[in-house]
Amino acid sequence: MPGSSRRSKSKTPPVVPGAPSVTAPSVTEPTQPHEPLPPKPDQAAPRPSTPTGVPVPAPVEAMAQQGAYLTTAQGARLTDTDHSLKAGPRGPVLLQDHHLREKITHFDHERIPERVVHARGAAAHGVFAANGAAEKICCASLFEKGKETPVFVRFSTVLGSRGSADTVRDTRGFATKFYTDEGVFDLVGNNIPVFFIQDGVKFPDIIHAAKPHPDREIPQAQSAHDTFWDFVTLHTEATAHTLWNMSDRGIPRSYRMMEGFGVHTFRLINARGKTVLVKFHWKPKLGVHSLLWEEAQIAAGVDPDMHRRDLADAIESGAFPQWDLGVQVFPDTEEQTFEGIDLLDPTKLVPEELAPVQVIGTMTLNANPTNYFAQTEQVAFHPGHLVRGIDHTDDPLLQGRLFSYLDTQISRLGGPNFAQLPINRPHVGTNDMFRDGMHQTAVHSGVAPYRPNSLDGGCPFLAGNKDAALIEYPEAVAGQKVRAAPKSFDDHFSSARLFYASLSPVEKAHVAKAYTFELGKCYEKAIKLRAVTVLRQIDEQLAQTVATGLGLPLPAGKANKKVKVAVSPALSQLGGKWPTDGRIIGIFADESTDLKDLATTVATISAQSMTPLVIAPHGGELERGGTQVTVSRTLDTVRSIELDALVIASTADDVRLTLLLQEAHRHLKGIAYTPDGADAVRAAGIPDSSAGVAATKTVAAAFDAIAALLPEHRVWARGAEYSV
Ligand code: HEM
Repeated sequence: MPGSSRRSKSKTPPVVPGAPSVTAPSVTEPTQPHEPLPPKPDQAAPRPSTPTGVPVPAPVEAMAQQGAYLTTAQGARLTDTDHSLKAGPRGPVLLQDHHLREKITHFDHERIPERVVHARGAAAHGVFAANGAAEKICCASLFEKGKETPVFVRFSTVLGSRGSADTVRDTRGFATKFYTDEGVFDLVGNNIPVFFIQDGVKFPDIIHAAKPHPDREIPQAQSAHDTFWDFVTLHTEATAHTLWNMSDRGIPRSYRMMEGFGVHTFRLINARGKTVLVKFHWKPKLGVHSLLWEEAQIAAGVDPDMHRRDLADAIESGAFPQWDLGVQVFPDTEEQTFEGIDLLDPTKLVPEELAPVQVIGTMTLNANPTNYFAQTEQVAFHPGHLVRGIDHTDDPLLQGRLFSYLDTQISRLGGPNFAQLPINRPHVGTNDMFRDGMHQTAVHSGVAPYRPNSLDGGCPFLAGNKDAALIEYPEAVAGQKVRAAPKSFDDHFSSARLFYASLSPVEKAHVAKAYTFELGKCYEKAIKLRAVTVLRQIDEQLAQTVATGLGLPLPAGKANKKVKVAVSPALSQLGGKWPTDGRIIGIFADESTDLKDLATTVATISAQSMTPLVIAPHGGELERGGTQVTVSRTLDTVRSIELDALVIASTADDVRLTLLLQEAHRHLKGIAYTPDGADAVRAAGIPDSSAGVAATKTVAAAFDAIAALLPEHRVWARGAEYSV
């Protein structure tokens, strides 16, 4: 199922996603033996296959558990798992209790090391459909017109540990595994197109600086601390990436609303052996949208799982997230530059206005994992997993990554055989002559895992070019052995200036606030002064605003006043209109509400691929005159952060409702109310004249009013009221 297009857009009746079980559980414990329940309809697992990637007919559920009775790991049925074997009911536990020891021992070893970076993640299965536009430049079968390739995508934060909050200010990972019919291709990217460092050898430095301080192990999952700013202000090649982190890109609204970037330049090779250089881009159909900083902070407390919940809920309710995959294409020249931009320098981007992003296919995420550990945790991406027609360039950051991932996965996944884990198995046969090792699950036959051999009949054989073999492009290389970077890598600021100059005024204001917040959390004045000095290289006004916020003088030194700064409008995320699939509409109601109107509106919202959340003073159901509506949130369990818009349709008077309304208003959400809700809106101090606030006659009309605002993500016109 993963990657197949079996799940089409949901036509089923409205669901409120998130219920944990496939059937409604009984209040009393079920005692009648039966087979395990199947996964929920939105869930999928890796295609059942042998360790060498050959499909097997067993249903995927049966690969993990089967039969109606609890057994030992050896398959013997058990009569009791609640009591240890003892010498009498009050006596000591006997050493011979193998079930006790097996159960506890397995539990004791349930954890594996978390990823050293990108530990916190969420994933989904899907399918990539190629439109054929890349056929001329790349011979990889996955880009053939109409070809559908299963994918597994893992989104992540970089800095935090596995249990940290989703909404922290950080870069997001965007890693895609394509199970192509020529082997696995991994595109291991981020939601930010530039990186902190130009050479992989610096990766431990940036990560050590950004991780919590080694003495107290604080702060968790964030860059607002001295060691991070110490490093990035001394190591100025990090300036552009740091600026992107301080922009709205550092706090996405949802994984579904992020761009993805391969960052490095890759080489594509076509059927005639001709090459081009490319940069990969994922463009979300829903547009690029962000949280406000206050929302991100509240969410870290009240819903630390916000992004993984959002992804899973959207998929469960049939609002399948989609991205176009595009490439910027550059000639493969000897100097590997484009319009003066060094294509091997991962701290630089190429503006889309200079090299348009050409769409080569579309990815749809259509199924949630059935088991987090087996899939999301055990998946192993690697920028070295390539297929024919796609090759690396000499970007020194990429070259460092090529070593790092396999090395770390050996320790994270406990040995060299993790490619055999179901989620990592390719969807083509493998025949690799790698043998033995921890957790070997293949039973190899033959006696000659070496080449050349005659004892196994010479198997396996080498492919020729016509057998769809991997292509290592014969690039000419020469040079002296040096520890040095090319001169062009000395430019540490042009990319940052380009990004900042391309932002709208409100986005620029967010950047200034983010720097002021982060540096305000630092203790060392010298580091703050150094940071402002670096900001003068980006923009004098930005430096001045941040210095004022920090209560510091503008440090002496050269500003960048005379530099000509390019602009790329495509880098701003405001100004457009986007689809609203998966948006969350809160409707506050109680028994005073017209429940027929409410029920119809709930159905309308679901039918438009959005999620209605009925909020009431109490849980359970609202019921009147034969109409029943399920309550999804109460005033105790809702905050504005999880809603994209709010309808008030009740006469209830509650201070928590006032807080909800005030937050929704401050967070620039569309608000509409029926005559019943007028008093609550007034009590919250929200004037009728406020932008994006509508008085309507019915719940249905209230939804129509806010639905008209959603395509722009927020009511930006209200921003000035709060300077957010
Ligand atoms: C353009 C620069 C980079 C990008 C876009 C990037 C992206 C990513 C992503 C998306 C992941 C998470 C994969 C997952 O979901 O499992 C990841 C993990 C990781 N990255 Fe990077 N990374 C970059 C640079 C580097 C560098 C320079 C190194 C080391 C030299 C490195 C080392 C690692 C390691 C060790 C992991 C954990 C892998 C695992 O445990 O499976 N990364 N990276």
